[in-house]
Amino acid sequence: MSIRPILIHPDPRLKKACAPVEAPTDEVRALAEDMLATMYDAPGVGLAAPQVGILKRLIVMDCNKAPEAAPRPMALINPEILWESAERVMSEEGCLSLPDQYAPVERSAEVRVRWTDLDGAVQEETFEGLWAVCAQHEIDHLNGVLFIDHLGFMKRQMITRRMVKLKRERARA
Ligand code: NI
Repeated sequence: MSIRPILIHPDPRLKKACAPVEAPTDEVRALAEDMLATMYDAPGVGLAAPQVGILKRLIVMDCNKAPEAAPRPMALINPEILWESAERVMSEEGCLSLPDQYAPVERSAEVRVRWTDLDGAVQEETFEGLWAVCAQHEIDHLNGVLFIDHLGFMKRQMITRRMVKLKRERARA
């Protein structure tokens, strides 16, 4: 298991639609384990494969953030949203590919998601709260969409300029 470097926006790999995973091979399972380790290390509540440079439809998440809550590491292969609630919620989002940037984004309050797990079984679950927001955010990544794409042009440009500067500083360091 290893921590993988997380791509920082702007990066063309974060803007691509990802290809379906054909089968949960050992390679896919190893990638999911690396992604979970990378996510917990960051720390974050979700991570999508394109964020580590792999353009495949795989996401991981664990939104049980409270210290007393048991961890629930999840890996979702080829996740799709089957249904979303008409009720919408606004919440502050961030992203490991946009360090220290947060902005309110409106999403569906609940979503029903179908995916394949690491053993190849098809799963379905209705998510709510932070889990629902996270699932929508991570599935967006698989379609080359970042949370800032839900913001107005000015706000998106401002955050993008900050990230360009951050990358320049990191490259110099
Ligand atoms: Ni993200």
